[in-house]
Amino acid sequence: MKSNTLIFEEIFNTKPEFEYVAPARINIIGEHIDYNFGLVLPCAISRYMHAYVSLRNDNIVKVASKSFEETYECEIGKFKYDKSLSFANFPFGSIWVLSQLTDKINRGLNIYYDSNIPLSSGISSSAAILDVTIYALNDIFKLGLSLDEITLNAQKVENNYMGLKSGIMDEAAIALGKKDKAILLDCNHFKYDYIDLKLANYRFVVMATNKKRNLTDSKYNERVDECTKALSIIKTKFDVKNLTELEPQNLDEIKSLLNNDVLYRRVKHVITEQFRVKEMVNALSAGNIKKIASLLDDSDLSLKDDYEVTGENLDTITSLARKNGAVGARMTGAGFGGCAIALIDEKIFEKFKENVEKEYTEKFGYSPDIFLVDVVDGVKNGR
Ligand code: GLA
Repeated sequence: MKSNTLIFEEIFNTKPEFEYVAPARINIIGEHIDYNFGLVLPCAISRYMHAYVSLRNDNIVKVASKSFEETYECEIGKFKYDKSLSFANFPFGSIWVLSQLTDKINRGLNIYYDSNIPLSSGISSSAAILDVTIYALNDIFKLGLSLDEITLNAQKVENNYMGLKSGIMDEAAIALGKKDKAILLDCNHFKYDYIDLKLANYRFVVMATNKKRNLTDSKYNERVDECTKALSIIKTKFDVKNLTELEPQNLDEIKSLLNNDVLYRRVKHVITEQFRVKEMVNALSAGNIKKIASLLDDSDLSLKDDYEVTGENLDTITSLARKNGAVGARMTGAGFGGCAIALIDEKIFEKFKENVEKEYTEKFGYSPDIFLVDVVDGVKNGR
C-alpha cells in the first residue's frame, strides 16, 4: 500500500513538511444539550483524522482527501461556502475564519487528509477536520491560539461559514480530549473538568449504522429552533436564560404553559437529559456500572420518544446491542442515522460484533461497522 507521503508527492509534486492528527469523539451523555448551553460529557476516541501539509509559494490553498476523489483549490481571500466543494469547505472555512483574526496566513498551502473516522456518521469527522486544520494553521503560521480558542474558531466555521447551528461539544471534545477521561463541559461558560472513566472490564463500542443520512442539517436546525421557541414561552413564567436551568419538578407547570405536545416533549428531553448528565458524573466517579448502563438506556429512550432523533436503524442497533450482551446502549451525536455506542464487557466483543452485524444486515441488507474504542488525547502534532 502506498504511504501517505508518497500520495502527497503524487498530488502536489512536493513532500509534506508537517503532519497533524485529530481523534473522533463520542458523547457519553448529554445529547442535544450543548446548544441549550448545559453540561455534556463527551470524550475523544481512537479513530483519527490525519492532515499532511506543505507551504506553497503562491496564495492558493489546494486540498485533497483519501476519502474523496476530487482535489479542490481556491485563492486565499476568495473563500465562499459552496455545497459542491464537499470536504474542501472545512479547510477553506477554517482559513476564512482565521483570516478575520489575523493577516499572518499569507502563503498558500497544500493539505492532504486521511481518516478512518466514518464520514458524517455522528462521531464527528467534521469537527476532526476543522480542529486538525485550525491546529495546523495555528502551528505553521504561529498564531498563538490556545486549545480553547481553536475550539471556538472551529465552531465559528460550522456556524458562520457552513450555516449549521451546532453547539460547541464536538470541537471541544476533539481539541481537549484526554486519555481515559471524559470531559464534563459546561457549554454555557465554556469551562470543563476531566472525569476519570472507571469502567473496570467494560469498554465502549461504536456501532455505525451506515444508513445514508438525509436532511441531518435541516432536522438538526429544526430541533434548535424548537428549543428556542419553547424557551421564549417558558421565559414568560420562569426566570431562566436556558432550558437546561430548569428542573424535572418544573415539568408539569411547563406542560400546561406550553400547551403543545411536541414542544413539551423536546423540553422534557432537555431537562431530563441534563439531570442524567449529573447522575452520570456520580455514577462514573463511583464506578457504578449498573447505574452508568441504565442512564445510557434512559437517555436513548428519551431521544427516541421525546426528542425524536433516532429512527429505525439506530433503534434496531441499540436493541440488538442490548440483546447481545451490552449492559447499556444509546445513539450518540446528532442522530437521524449515524452511530450508537454500547457498553460491553470486553471479553464478549467478538461474539457481540458477529451477532449484531448478522442480525442488522439481515434486516437492512447492508452491514454496520462495529469497533471497540479507547479514550485518547485530543488534537496534536502527528510526528
Ligand atoms: C451534533 C452537533 C453537536 C451536538 C450533537 C448533539 O454532533 O455537532 O454540537 O449538538 O449533534 O448532541
